[in-house]
Amino acid sequence: MTDVAGDLREHLVHYFEEHHKLVEAAALQLLLSDHQPLVLSRELIERASDGAPFVTREMVEAALAERRGPVRRPAVAPTGVLASRAPATALAFELLREGFTGPPVATQPLDAYSALFQSRFRALGRLLRGRPQLANLRPIAELRASEGSASILGMVRSVRETPQRHHLIVTLDDETGSLDILVPKGSPGARSPFLPDEVVGVRLDFPKEPGRIPRVSAVERPDVTTDRRPGRAPVSRRAVFLSDLHIGSRSFLGDAWTRLVEFLRGRGPLPELAASIGYVVIAGDLVDGIGVYPHQERDLAITDVVEQYVELGRRLAELPERLTIVAIPGNHDAVCPAEPQPRLPPTLTRPLPPNVRVAANPSTFALEGVVVEAYHGRSFDDLIPAIPGASYARPTDVMKRMLQMRHLAPIYGDRTPLAPLPYDGLVIDPAPDILVTGHVHTFGVDRYRGVLLLNASTWQAETEYQRMRNIAPVPAHAAVVDLATLALVPLDFSEGTRVVEGTGA
Ligand SMILES: [Fe+2]
Ligand SMILES: [Fe+2]
Repeated sequence: MTDVAGDLREHLVHYFEEHHKLVEAAALQLLLSDHQPLVLSRELIERASDGAPFVTREMVEAALAERRGPVRRPAVAPTGVLASRAPATALAFELLREGFTGPPVATQPLDAYSALFQSRFRALGRLLRGRPQLANLRPIAELRASEGSASILGMVRSVRETPQRHHLIVTLDDETGSLDILVPKGSPGARSPFLPDEVVGVRLDFPKEPGRIPRVSAVERPDVTTDRRPGRAPVSRRAVFLSDLHIGSRSFLGDAWTRLVEFLRGRGPLPELAASIGYVVIAGDLVDGIGVYPHQERDLAITDVVEQYVELGRRLAELPERLTIVAIPGNHDAVCPAEPQPRLPPTLTRPLPPNVRVAANPSTFALEGVVVEAYHGRSFDDLIPAIPGASYARPTDVMKRMLQMRHLAPIYGDRTPLAPLPYDGLVIDPAPDILVTGHVHTFGVDRYRGVLLLNASTWQAETEYQRMRNIAPVPAHAAVVDLATLALVPLDFSEGTRVVEGTGA
């Protein structure tokens, strides 16, 4: 058995470090004694001012007092408390953060969007600030060309290429102004494309000749750090990741689904593997919906959306009751399509079995201490065309880019509608141990800086609409992940039940 408390302690210390905070020993101890240490840590980061370098015991106590009245101090001696802590049963499922935080507060749409982008800029700026690569960091309005070099943080407003030499001219905005910068062709900074509305840090050199635009000598993205240690479950418990059930579609793969059910019930091959599974995560498009694309009714077996959720309830009730099922919506589900999407409303969850936990799209939660970021993946439709070489067949490449940007759907005004919320719920924070998406109906597994990337297949055969858009699905796959090691067993239920070779990443 691994040292759970030690792992969690390290996880928390690293989380605070990433936000440039040092956590005092007494504060850490109090955090670890809480039943939701990750949620509480996140609250502390949200509450703390950027300038305060320490997280103190008083700060934790204040956060706790706000949550539940008087502080309950741990009734154990200061030493040995962590080692003696029971295996983290309380951590089994912890919802850390939902992208959707409530309806917009501003009444003017422009004010609301400006609040959203300010929130994004602050959240991602917090991750970039203080890096040695971004020396002499200044607001754009305070840059002085006479200084020779400086760094700025900015949100990408536009990118264009110079006609002759094919250098990039990138326009960046911060809270004080905007600036054109030149990224020389072939320089390291030009290797990764600048995507609209992502937040970057750049190091600039000012040319001696007055009036010439500053040149970029280095680009920093928020990214996930290389030295992080993933969260680990105390014992070998597993989670199975699914997506895009599309219940109600004529092309729902009922036979394959039945094989999945049999497997999970321990009546198929690999019964020991099945018995170790405690969680099912479903990354959206739970049902096929209605009116999602032109002439969809021709593809529907169930044309009433409420009935589709009743059928979803029946299908999920076939899975063993002991499983905790976490389900987020996707663009086919009957919630507002603007992202972040709220969780399914009670009218639609009523027919679902009691072991289903619905959450917003995206949501961050911990399964036995392993942090999972679940996002349906609508933004693939914007990111794939925007990134040279990206394709629907390899969504995990785009997911790496999401982690580098620490944002799931930065591009505003294209195919992914963004909700004008005061708080950017599409920022990736905390960094997850597992990032799971769906939407593109393929099966992809990769790893990036210790983060397991999963695109979790579909339970719908190819539809005419997909044929038109040239998307070849990889259906009826499921990723079984050991939460103690993040080792993966990919399963294919499309014809029988078999382990997929070669995608075990
Ligand atoms: Fe889908
Ligand atoms: Fe989708």
